[in-house]
Amino acid sequence: MTTPNSSSFLGFFLVTTLLVFLSSSKKLGFAFAGRQKIESNNHLLHHHTHTVEVSSLLPSTTCSPSTKAPNGKASLKVAHKYGPCSQLHQDKAKTPTHAEILQQDESRVKSINSRLSNKLAGRGNNDLRNSEASTNIPAKSGSTVGTGNYVVTIGFGTPKKDLTLIFDTGSDITWTQCEPCSKSCYQQKEPIFNPSASNTYTNITCSSNLCSKLVSATGVTPGCSTSTCVYGIQYGDQSFSVGFFGKERLTLTPTDVFDDFLFGCGQNNQGLFGGSAGLLGLARDPLSFVQQTTPKYGGFFSYCLPSSSSSTGHLTFGKGSGGASNAVKFTSLSKVSDSTSFYGLDTTGISVKGTSLAISPSVFSASGTIIDSGTVITRLPPAAYSALKSAFREAMKAYPLTDPLSILDTCYDFSKYDNVSFPKIAFSFSGAANVLLDGTGVFYFTKTSQVCLAFAANGDASDVAIFGNVQQKRLEVVYDVAGRRVGFGPASC
Ligand SMILES: *[C@@H]1O[C@H](CO)[C@@H](O)[C@H](O)[C@H]1NC(C)=O
Ligand SMILES: *[C@@H]1O[C@H](CO)[C@@H](O)[C@H](O)[C@H]1NC(C)=O
Repeated sequence: MTTPNSSSFLGFFLVTTLLVFLSSSKKLGFAFAGRQKIESNNHLLHHHTHTVEVSSLLPSTTCSPSTKAPNGKASLKVAHKYGPCSQLHQDKAKTPTHAEILQQDESRVKSINSRLSNKLAGRGNNDLRNSEASTNIPAKSGSTVGTGNYVVTIGFGTPKKDLTLIFDTGSDITWTQCEPCSKSCYQQKEPIFNPSASNTYTNITCSSNLCSKLVSATGVTPGCSTSTCVYGIQYGDQSFSVGFFGKERLTLTPTDVFDDFLFGCGQNNQGLFGGSAGLLGLARDPLSFVQQTTPKYGGFFSYCLPSSSSSTGHLTFGKGSGGASNAVKFTSLSKVSDSTSFYGLDTTGISVKGTSLAISPSVFSASGTIIDSGTVITRLPPAAYSALKSAFREAMKAYPLTDPLSILDTCYDFSKYDNVSFPKIAFSFSGAANVLLDGTGVFYFTKTSQVCLAFAANGDASDVAIFGNVQQKRLEVVYDVAGRRVGFGPASC
């Protein structure tokens, strides 16, 4: 394309994207970035606790890939964006601080809540008359929202170019930065995709009904530039991607190739997407990767997020590919999923050290819950967090508390200990009782002298509870989109 006429549509989109509510964006984070050896301690007294060596909490600078290989074929390696196992591994100086990561996590949570309250109030994001209020969302100067935590590498085009994308269960559309970057592209590690160098790329025309499908996936009415459909998506803070809507061949593995995959070819992109090439949308809109590949995979995928940034996990598509084992406990999608593309769950309780916390069922029914691969820290309604915090502190009273870190208010100084023991935490969802969190899913580790309980309270009892990615570590999380259910299985990476 030629750059000149791009300024008009880009201008249009910069205005309209400010008018719409923020979609979810992704945050960085490498909670508990250490190599952690969790003893499986079956000793009676310690049945309800994990014991770890404090030294094992320290982050490793070398990658030790998981040796557990998933049995499915369509399986991609998952790495933490900033860890040594990632393609995108970069200088320490470029990685955000823990305080920044947690701040970005707050931005994501805010944007999720505004998207939810918009949808639940029956005001579609595409109705610009009703979006006026969102123009008041303060634009942060300087640093933009950092995004996402976990990445996978996928082949685009013919000849195939490998691109590393953040995968996100809270996003619908898949996009990658494309040449020519008419306005701007952020820095990415791999060469930027060039559609004109691919034999299999096709633009979608404005008159195509595929173009009109963008509204639900992006929340923005598509634009049109020289009869090519233009998409725009705005994330939390100032991150966005704008460009041509196209279709292209995607190659997951040599045997799993998808022609005509609809995606955003982003020519104007902003945000610290961590050097990644873009986003892989794994939410439930018809344009998401999951829905577009339903003929092959049946709307079924699972993942295992690695125990630390120096290990690997997997993202696997299709049934019979891990996740289908009998050990997986399923819960049906909740009503949050009726009106949004999020994966809504019904939380029914939390237990600490084998004892259920006294939380009234109305606490979780008032907030609703979603599971999100891009939110780092699990958010709970204030009453639920308060019960969790008390029980956790009680069980940990042998250890000295230390300064809070951003949104985390229960932090311990473990510097004087060789080993520490902490209570096991389990979640119950409707139909899936006692999903026991892995030992790596309890703390957010910054340094030995500041190890924090990785949960936070929502500001408001009506804000949605979010089952975040620290808590998902090492669990096999199974998404049966067609069957409208999500399952949890034992550690699979
Ligand atoms: C897609 O459409 C844009 C705008 O019309 C054009 O500049 C570009 O060359 C087209 N790309 C291809 C591969 O047709
Ligand atoms: C710490 O735990 C390890 C096993 O993980 C054990 O070998 C060691 O004796 C423990 N040290 C102390 C001081 O309890």
